[in-house]
Amino acid sequence: MKKNIEQEINNLRQQLHQHNHKYYVLNTPSITDFDFDQLMNQLIELETKYPEYNDSNSPSQRVGSDLNKEFEQVKHQYPMLSLGNTYSEEEIQDFYNRVSKQLPDEDFEIVCELKYDGTAIGLSYENGQLIRGVTRGDGVQGDDVTNNVKTIKSIPLRLEGNYPEQFEIRGEIFLPHNGFQKLNAAREEAGETPFANPRNAASGSLKMQNSAQVAKRPLDCFLYYMLGENLPSEYHIKNLDQARTWGFKIPSHLKLCKSIEEVFDFIRHWDSERHNLPFDIDGIVLKVNSLDQQRRLGFTAKSPRWAISYKFKAEQGYTKLESVTFQVGRTGAVTPVANLEPVFLAGTTVKRASLHNSDIISSLDLHLGDMVYIEKGGEIIPKIVGVDESVRQNDAKVVKFIQLCPECETELIRIEGEAAHYCPNSSSCPPQLKGRVEHFISRKAMNIDGLGTETIDLLFQNKMINDVADLYALHPMQLTSLDRMGEKSAQNILDGLEASKQVNFARVLFALGIRYVGETVAKKLASGFKSFDKLMNASQEELIEVDEIGDRIALSVVDYFSNENNRQLVERLKQAGLQFELSQEEQASHSDKLEGMSFVVSGSFSTFSRDELKTVIEKNGGKNLSGVSSKTTYLVAGDKIGPSKLAKAEKLGVKIISEDEFKDLIN
Ligand code: IVH
Repeated sequence: MKKNIEQEINNLRQQLHQHNHKYYVLNTPSITDFDFDQLMNQLIELETKYPEYNDSNSPSQRVGSDLNKEFEQVKHQYPMLSLGNTYSEEEIQDFYNRVSKQLPDEDFEIVCELKYDGTAIGLSYENGQLIRGVTRGDGVQGDDVTNNVKTIKSIPLRLEGNYPEQFEIRGEIFLPHNGFQKLNAAREEAGETPFANPRNAASGSLKMQNSAQVAKRPLDCFLYYMLGENLPSEYHIKNLDQARTWGFKIPSHLKLCKSIEEVFDFIRHWDSERHNLPFDIDGIVLKVNSLDQQRRLGFTAKSPRWAISYKFKAEQGYTKLESVTFQVGRTGAVTPVANLEPVFLAGTTVKRASLHNSDIISSLDLHLGDMVYIEKGGEIIPKIVGVDESVRQNDAKVVKFIQLCPECETELIRIEGEAAHYCPNSSSCPPQLKGRVEHFISRKAMNIDGLGTETIDLLFQNKMINDVADLYALHPMQLTSLDRMGEKSAQNILDGLEASKQVNFARVLFALGIRYVGETVAKKLASGFKSFDKLMNASQEELIEVDEIGDRIALSVVDYFSNENNRQLVERLKQAGLQFELSQEEQASHSDKLEGMSFVVSGSFSTFSRDELKTVIEKNGGKNLSGVSSKTTYLVAGDKIGPSKLAKAEKLGVKIISEDEFKDLIN
């Protein structure tokens, strides 16, 4: 009986590993997402029931863990060196000549690869299992980010085929363009600062303390370099070909070159073609193919003599700065925009560049009419990287950040420690009013069918609305009086508004557009406070009690509700019939039985996964802590609990309870 279960678990894991590989590495899924989820659910069910077969590399473990801990520093088995950079064909020729001189009378081949613009990672495998993922760090030692790495679906946790017992493979973790755009859109929606480019977003994501959050970031990983004692081949390219068969995502954009002309062809091809890739590259890497020749060429202190990188020139445009305008967003943040004389750059005509904030304007010492250099990075909007001061007119006026809001003339403020300026007139500054309504009706918020930006514009122009609560008082006649609005469309909007009264409390909270309250934060606040009345009157300290709510968010919530206009708005929405507390079903799974208690959960359990157990704690009013301290009420101890946690709890006199004792607490 037991044997069968173990077999079934292994069989499910095997199937899921293969489907992950087909989906994330080969891009050729062979089952539907639904069927995949079914298999995964079967596996999770069995693993929960039979924790004795736990395996940290099971495909079910890719969701990440909520444990927050500092990363451990690990020494690299082989130092993680960087590459020498070159910027011209002459320098590439010099490299080629040097190699040829050091390998007299020998033929050699060069493998040309793309230089991926992300963050480097070293993955160690033993007996086909991923055992560690370490960042570059200072090249000698790096951060152990294994738990985060495991959430990246294209990184195999277990290998297939004929792999060496022990080896390391290095590569680049990156964020493809579409993932980067989605991530930034979500950040902006939550009033958070967007990442400057995909590289920063990838390295920032990899260094997050909470791997469950990392799992939500669409990171990907290309592998390009193998190290170890027993590699399958004496040739770099063959090793990569082998690694591909074990399940690694080895890029196909690489070429074995037998002459320098072929190298130049590859470089020239990708210099223009790179703009069509769905991810960023910043150059080409050249590597001598034979490992024997690599060994004889050796290393300098900083980099190998058998490899070099060629960096593309960032494509620059040169054009005139015509004016600087200032835009006000829904949160009141003011963004300066440079308006340029149109110029063609890397495939598109550029008319505008972002300037981000006043610090950037002053550091560039921008003057109106200046000739400026612009560059495109991973960003959609290019940026100004320099000014040609030699052609500046004597009477050119320096660009100054405005002091008054361009829309409502209120004096702008700058919050200490932040780069952005804000217009504080949230109650009557037009783009803030309009932006908040647009956010409120958007798909992820109230999702009001039939209403779009154009109609919102018309409603404002005709003074039919001033805020989101006014939407619910709209009369059919008002709507049909609008330009191009028939009875059917009007009814559509009214139906959409009516339906939105069923949208749950967490989404209503998100829809209000409180700064830093994105979708996830809204859910946490809704289940932490259960009703608007409680949330509205919560102090900063009470807010911080909720898992994942920090000072910045707490302050923003308190600030929002300290404004009488906002309190009135909520009251009017309540009158209109919107959901301002958890529904009865939602309530049923919630209680305050664990109110005031804090828990540390460790080990594995038979009826819950660790994350499920933590959710149960939160839903019943308890708080999860990552480490045992004198503030811990209970340590919930499962199978294979960490000995240090146990020892610490004993030392501090923290009560240790079993899974069954925990169940008694909530029942
Ligand atoms: S090979 C000893 N190949 O560029 C050689 N590196 O400046 C090890 N990179 O730290 C590196 N694409 O993060 C290699 N195809 C590629 C690469 C690549 C990007 C990065 C990598 C490395 C840096 C070197």
